[in-house]
Amino acid sequence: MTSHDDATAAAAFAGPGGSGAAAAGSETETAAGPAAAAVGASPRAALITGGSRGIGLEIARALAADGFALTLSARSPEPLEAAAAELAATGAQVIAVAADASEPDDLDRLLAAHEQRWGRLDALVMNAGMGHGSLIAETPLRRVDKHYTLNVRGTFALLSSALPLLRETAASDPRGARVIALASLAGLMAEPGLAAYSATKAAVVSLCEALCAEEGANGVSATAICPGYVDTDMAAWKHDEIPASEMIKAADVAELAVSLTRLSRNAAVPVLAVHRAGGGLRGA
Ligand SMILES: NC(=O)c1ccc[n+]([C@@H]2O[C@H](COP(=O)([O-])OP(=O)(O)OC[C@H]3O[C@@H](n4cnc5c(N)ncnc54)[C@H](OP(=O)(O)O)[C@@H]3O)[C@@H](O)[C@H]2O)c1
Repeated sequence: MTSHDDATAAAAFAGPGGSGAAAAGSETETAAGPAAAAVGASPRAALITGGSRGIGLEIARALAADGFALTLSARSPEPLEAAAAELAATGAQVIAVAADASEPDDLDRLLAAHEQRWGRLDALVMNAGMGHGSLIAETPLRRVDKHYTLNVRGTFALLSSALPLLRETAASDPRGARVIALASLAGLMAEPGLAAYSATKAAVVSLCEALCAEEGANGVSATAICPGYVDTDMAAWKHDEIPASEMIKAADVAELAVSLTRLSRNAAVPVLAVHRAGGGLRGA
């Protein structure tokens, strides 16, 4: 299978997400909200990967409305800056940092920019992810590697690098610090044609459980949110079977994410399954 085949598969499942990879090395601290200079007020701060559209942007909107200062990240600078500008226009404090979440060096640069700007990390939202649909028998290992590199390795790298700041924040705030990872219902139950995606999302679930077990006593916990089909670019390929109007709303996922940040540090929620009403037994 050629790289063209992978690009086609990406368009089928992941939407046009790959277009901005070349620009991902450039940090673009852009839109800052009116109150951005008032860091001394020390608002709670969140870092969101894959924040330029879809579920990530919806979570950003919800966290901003709840008073969080934000670091927003994705690969393509232009949509990222547009998203940051939209949030800033509502009064949100936000910086935008273009970064590829599959590149550990990019992730370290992203985290450093966040820490330098906000000095704390109350919510780490690891939302960037990819999915290419194909049967196991027809899936080249190269495609498995791509899934693994972003969905698992990149997620692990960001979590590991962010832990010191998460712990430090949790030590100074009775609410603790939260990690919120976008896994998938496909990571909890198999769907034919999504094996590579499902396997990596199952790994994200496991990573969140492990984080809860290791860091709960430090006030840091993680939640793998596992939705069925959500109405975003990524799920557009499924519209023949499930109309957009019947899919889970990105705002539903955002509501859950914000709710997690309001819990006391005593409540750990390792996994949240979000079924699609009317989706039958699987609810995908
Ligand atoms: N939509 C669903 O049905 C569904 C269901 C369950 C779980 N999920 C999960 O939810 C998460 C978000 O999905 P979505 O539906 O909101 O997708 P989406 O609408 O396609 O948005 C994807 C976002 O991630 C960014 N992104 C993609 N690859 C990236 C990379 N390598 N590094 C950094 N940013 C990257 C994109 O911007 P750039 O392209 O500019 O980087 C964009 O901001 C994913 O992890 C997905 O697996 C989605």
